[in-house]
Amino acid sequence: MDVHKNLSSEAEKIARAYLEKELPQRWAHVEAVALKARKHGNLLFAKDKAQIITAAAWLHDLGYASVIKKTGYHPLDGALWLRSQGFDETVVSLVAHHSCAGLEAEVRGLGKVLDPFPKEETLLADLLLFADMTTGPSGEDFSVQERMDEIVSRYGKDHVVSSFILKAKPLILEASTRVESKLKSLSQEPSPGK
Ligand SMILES: [Fe+2]
Repeated sequence: MDVHKNLSSEAEKIARAYLEKELPQRWAHVEAVALKARKHGNLLFAKDKAQIITAAAWLHDLGYASVIKKTGYHPLDGALWLRSQGFDETVVSLVAHHSCAGLEAEVRGLGKVLDPFPKEETLLADLLLFADMTTGPSGEDFSVQERMDEIVSRYGKDHVVSSFILKAKPLILEASTRVESKLKSLSQEPSPGK
């Protein structure tokens, strides 16, 4: 597979093949996250990085697919499978750590399972989190706060996912604010010719 050419369309094909029929609601979420990541990615980054963030967004929930699921922890399962296929390593790492997955692994008692994947501490990772955390389970457009409230009410406040969300809240808000500020500053820049 030539993973560098048309990375995002390759990612879309893979995500569609594994998620669309088996998990249609999850697919609706993934599609909306990817379109959001692509729209903002094209504004924030040069072409190669915009490809990477769009590809990571298509693939971030791939680990939910039954044939890809191995450990039951979806960021890890998606990343392991993508690495086994020789997919772009930045995309693999973004998938592994998406939306504070390292912290979620700790809260779940999984320790350092994501250590084999280097963590992207960049606006790329922030944008993936922002796109994921402003998109509801069926692709709805949410604020970050609405999305966190929705997760806690869907899982119930005693669930491990809710504990994780409450613990990750400051990190989620900080990353989202970085993206929103950057997008705002771009929208305030005078367009060429003015
Ligand atoms: Fe997601």
